[in-house]
Amino acid sequence: MMAGLVTGCLAPQLSLLTLLLCAFASTAQHTMGGGSSLSVEDRARPFLVSPDGTFSCGFLQVGDNAFSFSVWFTASRNSTAVWTANRYFPVNGRGSRVSFTHDGELALADANGTMVWTSRTGGVSARRKGLTISLNDTGNLVISDPFTSSTVWQSFDWPTDTLLPSQPFTKDTKLVNGYYSLNFDNDNVLRLLYNGPDVASFYWPLPSLSIYEAGRTNYNSSRIAALNNTGVFLSSDQLQAQAIDLGLGIKRRLTIEHDGNLRMYSLNESTRGWTETWSALKQQCQVHGICGRNGICEYQPSLRCLCLPGHEMTDRGDWRKGCKPSFSIGDCTQECAPPPEQFKFVRVPQTDFYGFDIAYNKSVTFEQCRDLCLRMCQCSAFSYRLDGVGICYLKGLLFNGYTSPNICGSIYLKVPLNIDISAPRVAGLVCRHNVYGTTPRNSWKWTYLFAFAGVLGIVDLLFIVTGWWFLSSKQSIPSALESGYRKVMASQFRRFTYRDLKDATGNFKEELGHGRSGVVYRGVLVGGRVVAVKKLAVDVTMQGDEEFWAEMTVLGRINHINLVRIWGFCSERKHKMLVYEYVENQSLDRHLFDVDGDGKAATLAWSERYKIALGTARGLAYLHHECLEWVIHCDVKPENILLTREFDAKISDFGLAKLSKRDGVSGVEFSHMRGTLGYMAPEWALNLRINAKVDVYSFGIVLLEIVVGSRLQDQRTETGEPLQMPQITQALRYIVDSGDVMSLVDARLQGQFNPRQAMEMVRIALTCMEERSSRPTMDDIAKSLTAFDDEDEHPPTTPEYGPTL
Ligand SMILES: *[C@@H]1O[C@H](CO)[C@@H](O)[C@H](O)[C@H]1NC(C)=O
Ligand SMILES: *[C@@H]1O[C@H](CO)[C@@H](O)[C@H](O)[C@H]1NC(C)=O
Ligand SMILES: *[C@@H]1O[C@H](CO)[C@@H](O)[C@H](O)[C@H]1NC(C)=O
Ligand SMILES: *[C@@H]1O[C@H](CO)[C@@H](O)[C@H](O)[C@H]1NC(C)=O
Ligand SMILES: *[C@@H]1O[C@H](CO)[C@@H](O)[C@H](O)[C@H]1NC(C)=O
Ligand SMILES: *[C@@H]1O[C@H](CO)[C@@H](O)[C@H](O)[C@H]1NC(C)=O
Ligand SMILES: *[C@@H]1O[C@H](CO)[C@@H](O)[C@H](O)[C@H]1NC(C)=O
Repeated sequence: MMAGLVTGCLAPQLSLLTLLLCAFASTAQHTMGGGSSLSVEDRARPFLVSPDGTFSCGFLQVGDNAFSFSVWFTASRNSTAVWTANRYFPVNGRGSRVSFTHDGELALADANGTMVWTSRTGGVSARRKGLTISLNDTGNLVISDPFTSSTVWQSFDWPTDTLLPSQPFTKDTKLVNGYYSLNFDNDNVLRLLYNGPDVASFYWPLPSLSIYEAGRTNYNSSRIAALNNTGVFLSSDQLQAQAIDLGLGIKRRLTIEHDGNLRMYSLNESTRGWTETWSALKQQCQVHGICGRNGICEYQPSLRCLCLPGHEMTDRGDWRKGCKPSFSIGDCTQECAPPPEQFKFVRVPQTDFYGFDIAYNKSVTFEQCRDLCLRMCQCSAFSYRLDGVGICYLKGLLFNGYTSPNICGSIYLKVPLNIDISAPRVAGLVCRHNVYGTTPRNSWKWTYLFAFAGVLGIVDLLFIVTGWWFLSSKQSIPSALESGYRKVMASQFRRFTYRDLKDATGNFKEELGHGRSGVVYRGVLVGGRVVAVKKLAVDVTMQGDEEFWAEMTVLGRINHINLVRIWGFCSERKHKMLVYEYVENQSLDRHLFDVDGDGKAATLAWSERYKIALGTARGLAYLHHECLEWVIHCDVKPENILLTREFDAKISDFGLAKLSKRDGVSGVEFSHMRGTLGYMAPEWALNLRINAKVDVYSFGIVLLEIVVGSRLQDQRTETGEPLQMPQITQALRYIVDSGDVMSLVDARLQGQFNPRQAMEMVRIALTCMEERSSRPTMDDIAKSLTAFDDEDEHPPTTPEYGPTL
C-alpha cells in the first residue's frame, strides 16, 4: 500500500512543496482496510491522503473545540474543506473518533459515544468483508470492494457546498449553503435557489430573462453537469461557464457560498490562497433573500442593506430578518380594513422588488395604477414603469429589494396618510441622513429637479444613489405623473413640430457633424436650452409614424450619465428628427486621431483616456444589461463617443439600430449590415444572428485605439501592408504575456501613463476580439475597468509591471 504512495512522490520535478507534502504524506496512507481509526486528539495526522497528495481527509477544526470530519485541499492555506461528513453536527475536540470498521462502515463518534455520522455501508452482508476505503486523487473518498472492484459508497455522491473537477452533478445532487442551493429544476434547468424561512425563489439564471435569453435550454432532460480539469463547467441545459484562467494543471473548485453566489476558484500554489475565476452572478444584489423583508440591497460603493422609508431593522444583528414598519396599515382579513383614502405613497426611486405581484396591468396610467393599489387592501406598494404602455405591478409582500441607478422604475410604498416619514431609518448610515427626507412640497421643485437631471448628470446620479426623495400625499405627486405616462413623456421628452426645430436651428444653419444615420445641427430651443438636432437619413425614416413613436418613447426613457440624453423628436411625414442633449467637446476621434490631417488633434491625457474608456464601457453595459429594454448599439466607434467639457464619455446614436425587446428570443435579425468597417465583428459577415457581442467587439477596437492613439485600420507592417486581425491579436497576446505595454502606448503621451491600466485595457481588448462566445460581457468589462480606476495617475513606469491576469 505504501508503494503507491511512494511512486506518487517520485515525480520528475520535485518542488519544495511536493517534498513537504510527501514528507507529510508518508505518515499517511491513501487506502486502508477495515479496523482502522483515528481519534480527534491525533488530528495533526490526516486519516487518509490521496496518492498525489492533493487531498487529505481527517479532522478539521470548525469552531472552539468543535471538529468536522472532512476532505480538504492539502495545499490550501486554510485547509478548504470540499466535503464534510458532519457538516451540521461538529464533534468534540476530545474523545471523538472516526473509524472504518471490519464490516466496511465509516463512522464518526462523538466524545460521549453517540454516532454522529455513518456511511451506512456496514453489516449489509457477510460477503462485504474485506472492503477498503481510499482517498482518490480527484478528492473522492471511496469505499470499495477490491474483489469485484465495485464502489460501495463515495463522497462524490454526497456533495456539500463544493463540486470538484470530474465530480458529476446530477439530477439527484445539490450544493447547499445555508438557505442557498444549486440544483436542477423540474424543467431541466440548473438554477440557484433561495429557500428562506418565509419565501423561496430562484434567482439564477436571472428571473427577468427567459431561459433562452439566459443561454439555457429546458429540452435536454439528462440533467447532468460537470466541471472539467481545464476549468469549464458544462451543463446539459447548455450552460457553459469558463474560468478566466482556462488550462490544465490548476486545482479548482466550484462552491456555493454563504452569500448565495456560485463561484469557481483556482488555488494559487505559491500563496496557497484561492483566486476567484468565475461567478454566476456579477452583481451580488441579484441574489435573493440578502436583505430580508422590506429591505433593499444596494450596491454602491459596496454591498449593503437599507430599510424602506418608515421601517426599521427587525433584528439588529441579522439582515435576513428584514425590516418592520414603524406604522400599521391595518389587517386586511378584518371586516374593518382601513378605507383607501387613509393612505398615501412614498416614492423610492430606482428600486424594484422581485416577486409577490398580486396583480399586473398593462396600458394603465400612473393614476390608475395608484388607485388600484389603494383599493386593494393587500397591496403594500406598486411599481410603475413608463414602458411605452405603462406597466403597473401591485406588490403584496416586499422581498428581494434591489436599488441601482440602472433600474428604470420606482417603487411607491403605501403608508398611512397621517404619518410623517420625515426621517427615514437607514441603519448604520448617519452621515447620509441629511439627504433623505427632503420633501418637495410643490411640484415645481420636482419638475426643477427633473429638468436639471440631465444637465447635472453627476449630481443627479448622486442624488438618486444616496437618497430617495419623498412625495408626501396625493397633492405632492407631480402633476405630470398624475395624468399618466403620456404627459410624463411630454414633460421630459417632447414631440416637436417641424416648425419648432426649423426655428431652433435657424433653418438648419449650423452643421455639427454628419454620419450615415443623418446630419446633426446645433439648435437653441425656446427657453435657451442648446440642443443637437439630428435629421435622420432616409434608411432610418422608412418606418411608419406609429412604430417611430413607439421606438422614440423607449429611447426617451433611456437615461444614463454615459449616454447622450434624447430630449425629443419630430415626426412629420418624411421629416424625422431627434433632439439630443448638446455635448460640447466633439467626438473622441477628433481628440484621438488626426482627423483633419493638419496635425491639430489635441493629445488626450492618460487619465482622460481611461475615464473615457470606463464611461463608454458603463454606458454600453447599461444599454445591454440594465435597462428595461435591451438595446444593441451596433455602431460603436470613436465618432459615436462624444465628450463633455470634463472629458466624460457620452455615447450617441444608440437605438438607431433595431431595438430588441427583452421578452423576445435573444438575438436580432437585421435585414442589412450595420456598423462601420474596421469596427465590425466578424459575425456580421457570417450571416449569424446578431447579439450584444458585436458591440463588445467594436468596443475592444476602440479601447485599443485609445491606448495606441491611432486607427487600428491604419496600422501597417514594415513592408507597408495593412495589418491583419490575426497579426494584431498575436501582437497583443505577446504584449499581455511579456508585460511590455510601453511599446504599444501612444508615443504622444511621452511615457505619462499608468502601465497597469494600459495593460488591463490591452488585456480586455484582446478578449473582446475573440470568437464571440468567449468575449466578455460589457458588464464584466465595466467591472474590470472599474477595478483599476482609482490608481495613481502616473506611477513610475518601471518594467516590473507584469501581466495582470
Ligand atoms: C485563512 O486564514 C487566515 C489566517 O489563518 C485568515 O486571516 C483568513 O481570513 C482565512 N481565510 C478564509 C477564507 O477563511
Ligand atoms: C452526546 O453529546 C452531544 C453533544 O456533544 C449531545 O447532543 C448528545 O445528546 C449526547 N448524547 C448522549 C447519549 O449523552
Ligand atoms: C479514482 O481516480 C482515478 C483517476 O485519478 C479514476 O480513474 C478512478 O475511476 C477513480 N475511482 C473512483 C472510484 O472514483
Ligand atoms: C473541458 O471542456 C472544454 C469544453 O468542452 C474542452 O474544450 C476541454 O478540452 C475540456 N477539458 C478536459 C480536460 O477535458
Ligand atoms: C444532453 O446533454 C448531454 C450532456 O451535456 C449531451 O451529452 C447530450 O447529447 C444532450 N442531448 C441532446 C438531445 O442534446
Ligand atoms: C499567486 O499569487 C501571487 C501573489 O498574489 C501572484 O503574484 C501570482 O501571480 C499568483 N499566481 C497565480 C498562478 O495566479
Ligand atoms: C387590472 O388587472 C386586474 C386583474 O389583474 C383586473 O381585475 C382589473 O380590472 C385591471 N384594471 C385595469 C384598470 O385595467
